[in-house]
Amino acid sequence: MSNEVVTGTTRVCGLIASPVAHTMSPAMHNAAFRSLGLDYIYVPFLVAPEDLPNALDGLRALGIRGFNVSIPHKVTCIPFLDGLDPLAEHIGAVNTVVNNDGDLRGYNTDAEGFLRSLTERDIPVARQNIVIVGAGGAARAVAYILAREGAYLTMLNRTPEAAETLADMIEDDFGQRVPFFALEEAALEEALAEAHILVNTTSVGMSPDNDASPVPARLLRADLTVCDIVYNPVRTALLAAAEAAGAATVSGVEMLAWQGALAFELWTGAGAPFDLMRGTVLELLQTHEE
Ligand code: ATR
Repeated sequence: MSNEVVTGTTRVCGLIASPVAHTMSPAMHNAAFRSLGLDYIYVPFLVAPEDLPNALDGLRALGIRGFNVSIPHKVTCIPFLDGLDPLAEHIGAVNTVVNNDGDLRGYNTDAEGFLRSLTERDIPVARQNIVIVGAGGAARAVAYILAREGAYLTMLNRTPEAAETLADMIEDDFGQRVPFFALEEAALEEALAEAHILVNTTSVGMSPDNDASPVPARLLRADLTVCDIVYNPVRTALLAAAEAAGAATVSGVEMLAWQGALAFELWTGAGAPFDLMRGTVLELLQTHEE
């Protein structure tokens, strides 16, 4: 490969989202391509909802090798794809697409990425009691993959109806009856009393709301593993309180880097340099915080 960043043979990957300006994926993927000497480049594409069908046709026509899909297209892109990986089909959301000669196949590496953030740190999931806070799109991916791995779930959400819908989906797919509650302190206390792992899938605590936490600090214990899918800030108020209680923590950066690593492997067939990808994201986030 030449020293030029882009040549006549460079394969292109990217991201479709709106907004797209603050994404860390280009830095993460381009660092990974460069470190492995792969002739690939990753670029952001700002795509408004009404332009999604044309954008997907364009990506196909241009022979873009693959792309990530983010807000607001993760669900709406599905009818325009040519096929879905079974996991993405069950979750009903796609965050990664592979283009094989015009055949666009959708995957969900958010779910697998979240699972990896636990398993790669030897945190067991099967037969563990796991409390999921939130019931949006991210909760759906997290709940599905944890139920698939044999975890026992409890769900709490500000709007209990959304938790009920998600609990019903898990029961339909896995035969597991999932208790669900409104996100209130008494219900949290009861659910956490038996829990091994707590996962925040809500946006509570995300920058600039850094001091907010979805769970009161007094409910956290040393024998709990606390995961936050919020990655900015890296150390959310929830994770800081968990650390102070002596609990193990998993930050949203782990899931972000793992979903990227898994997408990278789908596009290139090469093993992803995970530590580099995670380090690139951490460096960018630290620069933001300064
Ligand atoms: P995502 O795809 O990132 O999961 P989403 O589908 O909009 O985003 O879901 C956001 C989740 O965060 C929901 O569970 C939402 O609760 P509601 O269903 O009640 O809206 C939760 N959420 C957002 N802001 C919240 C807040 N201030 N307090 C509690 N939950 C909040």
